[in-house]
Amino acid sequence: MDALALLHERVSVARLGGDMPDQAVLDNLFKAALRAPDHGMLRPWRFLTIGGDARLALGDLFVAAQGDAVLSDLEMARLRSKTLRAPLIVVVVAVLTEHPKIPQLEQLLSAAAAAQNLLLAAHAQGLGAIWRTGDMAYHEVVRAGLGVAAHEQIVGYLYVGQVEGKTHLLPNLSVAAYVTDWPGARPVEGN
Ligand SMILES: Cc1cc2nc3c(=O)[nH]c(=O)nc-3n(C[C@H](O)[C@H](O)[C@H](O)COP(=O)(O)O)c2cc1C
Repeated sequence: MDALALLHERVSVARLGGDMPDQAVLDNLFKAALRAPDHGMLRPWRFLTIGGDARLALGDLFVAAQGDAVLSDLEMARLRSKTLRAPLIVVVVAVLTEHPKIPQLEQLLSAAAAAQNLLLAAHAQGLGAIWRTGDMAYHEVVRAGLGVAAHEQIVGYLYVGQVEGKTHLLPNLSVAAYVTDWPGARPVEGN
């Protein structure tokens, strides 16, 4: 696929199916993720792959995170089924460290760029993918169950699989609405 076409046409795909992608496809996803821009080469990320029955265990964590909330069987089943929406879920974890020059925000941004690279690599290989977060990306029970440490943050759950059904249309965004040419300015006297 032409690189610009890939960048211009990627869309998120919510309806995903098929089998766990094979190892060569997975390697391409992660090689792309590891090429994210990274101030100081801190590699401020790690990735968990969740497929097969591990997805059920993740669903159990989502249910456990509800604590004492009383859920109907239907609500419980809905929550559990969330993790079965794709054959593969990649949890992108930002690994944040104290650094004298590189703020943690930049490390987080770098991990987010890795997530986006991974989405693009999925698209480039004919797969669909979508980045999701929600409460379950921040809940202590889920974080603990996934082994996410205090200095780490879940950047997102990337659902990856074969595209099922139609994908949504590209949004018709005008470049001009978002891009302004700054003409330059001189500091005001006295400041
Ligand atoms: C950090 C982040 C978190 C997101 N979380 C969710 C989510 O929990 N649920 C959801 O439906 N979409 C979520 N989205 C939005 C989708 O990933 C997607 O970008 C959106 O549906 C627009 O589709 P598009 O990527 O094709 O433009 C999230 C996006 C980002 C960047």
